[in-house]
Amino acid sequence: MDKYRSAFQQSLNDPATFWQDQSRRIAWYQAPASIMSTDDNGNARWFADGTLNTAYLALDYHVEEGRGDQLALIYDSPVTDTRATFTFTELRDRVASFAGVLVSLGVVKGDRVIIYLPMIPEAVIAMLACARIGAVHSVVFGGFAPRELASRIDDAEPKVLLTASCGIEVNNIIAYKPMVDEARRLASHQTWQCVVLQRPQCRAETGAFDHDWQDLDAAAEPQPPVAVGATDPLYILYTSGTTGKPKGVVRDHGGHAVALRYSMHAIYGALPGDVFWAASDVGWVVGHSYIVYAPLITGCTTVLFEGKPVRTPDASTFWRIIDTCKVNIFFTAPTAFRAIRKEDPEAALLASHDISSLRTLFVAGERTDPPTYHWLVEKLGVPVVDHWWQTETGWPICANPVGIDQMDNKAGSVAVPVPGFDVQVLGEDHLRMGVREEGDVVIRLPLPPGCLPTVWGNHERFREGYLSQHPGFYHTGDGGYIDEEGYLYIMGRTDDVINVAGHRLSTGELEEVVANHPAVAECAVIGIEDREKGQIPVALVLLKDGANITAEAMQQEIVSSVRRDIGAFANLKRILPVARLPKTRSGKILRRVMRCIADGRDYDPPATIDDPAILEELRTALINNNIGLIAEEHK
Ligand code: COA
Ligand code: AMP
Repeated sequence: MDKYRSAFQQSLNDPATFWQDQSRRIAWYQAPASIMSTDDNGNARWFADGTLNTAYLALDYHVEEGRGDQLALIYDSPVTDTRATFTFTELRDRVASFAGVLVSLGVVKGDRVIIYLPMIPEAVIAMLACARIGAVHSVVFGGFAPRELASRIDDAEPKVLLTASCGIEVNNIIAYKPMVDEARRLASHQTWQCVVLQRPQCRAETGAFDHDWQDLDAAAEPQPPVAVGATDPLYILYTSGTTGKPKGVVRDHGGHAVALRYSMHAIYGALPGDVFWAASDVGWVVGHSYIVYAPLITGCTTVLFEGKPVRTPDASTFWRIIDTCKVNIFFTAPTAFRAIRKEDPEAALLASHDISSLRTLFVAGERTDPPTYHWLVEKLGVPVVDHWWQTETGWPICANPVGIDQMDNKAGSVAVPVPGFDVQVLGEDHLRMGVREEGDVVIRLPLPPGCLPTVWGNHERFREGYLSQHPGFYHTGDGGYIDEEGYLYIMGRTDDVINVAGHRLSTGELEEVVANHPAVAECAVIGIEDREKGQIPVALVLLKDGANITAEAMQQEIVSSVRRDIGAFANLKRILPVARLPKTRSGKILRRVMRCIADGRDYDPPATIDDPAILEELRTALINNNIGLIAEEHK
């Protein structure tokens, strides 16, 4: 652990020298003289006077360095039966051309562009084309419904929205364009043009605001990369907070490029020329950082996968891709392996594939349950690294940094703080907890490069949401503890954010939709443990007096309104009518206590509870309705 300890200590004791050294790993147009400074909001900013271009680092730089013929991107799409490859030169040319499309639509540096696309090469091309001209992209996950898309349109106020005629979910063709049209109807911001990529599986109808992707691309004037300031925004990525309104996490160019390049070396042990595969979606932070930017900035080949780990066509898809693409480093969410394990418990399908290229498997996005961890170690025979981070940080906070020192992995732990992150566990009194004592997991300020400097258009929300709980620290929203060897264990969110099959959602967002049902007087949505998805939401509802609806009809109506207003991936399938909701005397709903009951965990009922008898009522209702692990225990 010596090399790790010395890097970690230097990163905390002398962050400016540490990060100046790391900044030399990337090709700046103008190297920064200022390493750490403070902005008008009082936040630490990195490399403020440096200039660079992220798309140049990801593409042109490698062409200039003689890697032009190396594969930059492999697109593997079992759902369309397609495989395509792009060398660094080919991808650079496609990106330069599409940057010309954006310029032809009047997009200039600082303008926002929303990208609402499935997992196709055009999504990567569009992101890099924005970066090339200094436009700010905001990728919206294709599973989000029109209402969610509209709220992002209103917040980001884009000049252009890029979409495709459809996405493909196993065998279902999901038409995107009608959802974009519906989002336009719902949004207040109207002055955006829409570029539509027509896919062969379904043709979109176009109207007055719409342009054809291929037509514009054919006529486009290729654009060179422009120099942008290190603290200029590269992208906005909306994520769920504690309220219904998503937060626009802002990422800047300079700190992001340096942090990602460092992470590829220190955490993933990746070298230029390696094949790196993150099986996630470009709509999530994992997709931004480890499908697109980090592998390409490092000169790795990245794999873009359009499909599912099972059913496309079976549970061998991951093994086939590792084999055929010769993947060296693989990263995905544990929920994907739980799905594979369910279909193929003995991993028998692995036998027909050669996965010897694989050096390390990384998992993140949600807690890895020990049985899945041990299954992976046994079946794959490579180190399995569980690492922990979030949209806000943009890169891992805790990991086994295999590029610095290979440490032991422990089931259930996300290992040690990555250099740059001073992770601590604090109690309500802001004091450090002892070994193995649970508390709030926080990061001492300043945050290292790459982490969010603000929330788009709402710095107060940043201050309030992340800096107000423990003065001098960034509040991650996760609870956990540290063991005697300094390993961190994440025990789950302490706020109203839930994680459903690796998808982050806020219960507040779901409650807004549930509460809109005409028969519902009051409701609470809680995330309860689920063996396959990690967590699933359950809505507890109090019906209005005289509501004339059957439980089945109400369940059906609420489930379909969540699919319509948020998206099917929210997985809200269970609605439990209750006579009362447990509350404090001041009227605060006791969500954490309800979660503990559903999960069969111990809890201390707060002294301020209105009526303790409600908890027993709730427990019985969950058991009788077969909801949660508490019900399983009683089977
Ligand atoms: N567009 C439209 N619909 C989508 C969608 C998308 N991009 N993604 C999911 N959905 C739909 C699914 O089709 C499904 O619909 P259905 O109820 O009509 O069958 C529903 O949402 C539930 O989806 P999900 O819970 O994701 O289940 P799944 O079987 O489709 O996929 C996994 C299972 C494990 C493959 C998937 O959840 C996954 O990839 N999770 C990891 C997410 C991730 O990468 N997180 C980042 C951390 S690494
Ligand atoms: P997201 O911003 O969507 O990446 O979600 C971040 C949240 O997912 C974190 O705050 C954690 O609650 C959870 N998370 C991510 N990685 C892990 C992990 N390895 N173990 C436990 N929880 C995780």
